[in-house]
Amino acid sequence: MMQILTIETTCDETAAAVVTDRLEVLASVVASQDDLHRRFQGVVPEIAARAHVERILPVIDETLRRAQLTLDDLDAIAVANTPGLAGSLLVGLVAAKTLCLATGKPLLAVNHLHAHIYACRIAEGREIFPCVGLIVSGGHSHLYHCRNAFDFEPLGGTIDDAAGEAFDKVANMLGLPFPGGPALSRIAVDGDPKAYRFPRAFLNDDQRLDFSFSGLKTAVRYEIAGPGRPDFSAVDLPPQRVADLAASFQEAVVDCLVGKSALAVRKTGIGRLCIGGGVAANRRLRERLEETAGREGFEMLIAPMALCTDNAVMGAIAIERLKAGKVESLDLDIYPGLVRH
Ligand code: KG4
Ligand code: ZN
Repeated sequence: MMQILTIETTCDETAAAVVTDRLEVLASVVASQDDLHRRFQGVVPEIAARAHVERILPVIDETLRRAQLTLDDLDAIAVANTPGLAGSLLVGLVAAKTLCLATGKPLLAVNHLHAHIYACRIAEGREIFPCVGLIVSGGHSHLYHCRNAFDFEPLGGTIDDAAGEAFDKVANMLGLPFPGGPALSRIAVDGDPKAYRFPRAFLNDDQRLDFSFSGLKTAVRYEIAGPGRPDFSAVDLPPQRVADLAASFQEAVVDCLVGKSALAVRKTGIGRLCIGGGVAANRRLRERLEETAGREGFEMLIAPMALCTDNAVMGAIAIERLKAGKVESLDLDIYPGLVRH
């Protein structure tokens, strides 16, 4: 049996896990930094990096303790080195490399976005490749043709804001607490998704597998404040109006994500869709995807709630690299932007 330690510090969660080649999770620890970033209504990169420095060793220690293992029991150490915030990525990478240097264990690289899709594999215990992968998180909204654990071909993605970013920013306009996605979706339950007709960029263009949420965000702003009036206070909004705005905004995002995912499935001819990332925790999105998959007759796998937002368990994708002998040298670098590896 193989067991690896995985480390995740791409954004604002400091996380570690121990997983086996049978995809059992022996331990998983996630230290969230939400409290540190809340008053800024978004992740402040320098604060995130500093918090990772403080937390990374206690998180790794606690993970090994819960797994009842020592470093000697591990077969390799994996770390997410792309994409993400540069300072945050560096902390995880330096921790992983140092542990590899000290123990002589092999180093494995994890692409954070691919790992979000792999979360579906862990949960279901079923093969997921080949599939169309939809990754919807705070920093990314992408569609991939996923052939295997190493071959993810981009099919399309957002040309501006990520879906989660749009949720966070609109939630902020509505006076809801950070992180905005969960708060907005809770409020939306009491709203009418048809109250406001917001734009759905590219939805009727079946040549494109892209998203754009920037115009939608602006449309919500104008709906609240009136055209040409950039300043407004969410405090003045009646609760029912907030709920209707939230529901109508959410429905527009969900329409785009569901519409383009279904189009990607049709275009590639792959009858399987896998969804991961923080926004995949959204109940309305899950409902609508299930409905669409049922109607159009494709298989749909969605990461369980706990594995949607950032965690180190999904770094289990590195097991596939270990099995294939794709081990990294100790000069492995970080790649904050999107790369394929
Ligand atoms: O994957 P993730 O934890 O971090 C990134 O890699 O970005 O995703 C975080 C994002 C945030 O934008 C958050 O607002 C959003 O996921 N999110 C949600 C929900 N839960 C988290 N968005 C909509 N509905 C939710 N229930
Ligand atoms: Zn993520």
